[in-house]
Amino acid sequence: MAIPLVDLRIQYEELRDEVMTAFGEALDSMQLVLGPNVRALESEWASYCDAPHAIGVGNGTEALSLALKGLGIGPGDEVITVAFTFIASVECIYHVGATPVLVDIDPDTFCISPEKLAEAITPRTRAVIPVHLYGHPADMDRADAAIGDRDDIVVLEDAAQAHGARYKGARCGSLGDAAAFSFYLSKNLAGYGEGGMITAADDAVSDRIRKLRVHGSAERYCHDLIGYNSRLDELQAAVLRIKLRRLDEWNEARRQHAARYTEQLADVVQVPTAADWAEHVYHVYTIRSPQRDAIADALEAADIGHAVHYRIPVHLQAAVSELGMGPGSLPETERASEEVLSLPMYPELTGDQIDEVCAAVRGAL
Ligand SMILES: Cc1ncc(COP(=O)(O)O)c(C=O)c1O
Repeated sequence: MAIPLVDLRIQYEELRDEVMTAFGEALDSMQLVLGPNVRALESEWASYCDAPHAIGVGNGTEALSLALKGLGIGPGDEVITVAFTFIASVECIYHVGATPVLVDIDPDTFCISPEKLAEAITPRTRAVIPVHLYGHPADMDRADAAIGDRDDIVVLEDAAQAHGARYKGARCGSLGDAAAFSFYLSKNLAGYGEGGMITAADDAVSDRIRKLRVHGSAERYCHDLIGYNSRLDELQAAVLRIKLRRLDEWNEARRQHAARYTEQLADVVQVPTAADWAEHVYHVYTIRSPQRDAIADALEAADIGHAVHYRIPVHLQAAVSELGMGPGSLPETERASEEVLSLPMYPELTGDQIDEVCAAVRGAL
């Protein structure tokens, strides 16, 4: 592909020696399960996010499920989130046996609409999952205001796309009762395989999640809870520690790339914007246009990577047909699904490549 959507190779080549040394050290130590790298990464990630606790787990999907379970969510509870997201934001609700309530987005941020959230709260609501989509934080204060004085409702951030993003100066991961991160290959902070992390505000919740990730045990072969096997791999943790040192620099590069795209595209498509209270980390750079498919065809012809995040919103997926939410039930979500298109975005993208992508987009229009 002339310009891929994401290129992982360039970064790997830059870090190759450091990564190989860290792999060698981890393998030589043979402490390969919840060893020194996982412990160190947990403490470094907690401090990076300014969160009291961080717990490494198997992937972002399990981070969401274990966090919900650790927060005490289960059968009979309603959990409110969006349908304009990756399905994991909703799968986790099913995994703990709770009931999903899917609401519409705010079209400016692509994140949960505080008004729709307020309307969806019932006496059975026990949790809200704001998704910081595309790397832009959800409006957490307005979500809190919608929840009001309901102390029985917890907030779990889905921060799988928002490593390092800030809301009113505070890092995503420190804004709710807990947050779930993914370290999947293409994320802003990514390992070379699967990985995830939960940040948590409360000591007891953190202790419960720590047990849940290893079969409900704090002490080997003593099981206080029915848990899972969801451990962050020591080799992934070793890579993630190396990459964490570069995360801010890489996020800054993404912001600069976004600015260069925006300069050239703002007059022909709707470009992504950051609210004045947000520090966006552009996990993806996603434009909006009623001519989305024509633009995608032009990029395809020019051998330029592109993707639609997300073409079928969760409420219209066969997997959740039991919710009975047909087309028309979430108008802003459905409109966004028809119009969004993500362009190539990764820290090592060059100015010339961005200009080439912009020329192809403009040519299509
Ligand atoms: C918004 C969102 N939530 C959750 C996840 C799940 O993360 P993982 O793929 O690590 O399970 C993803 C990953 O793609 C995501 O984008």
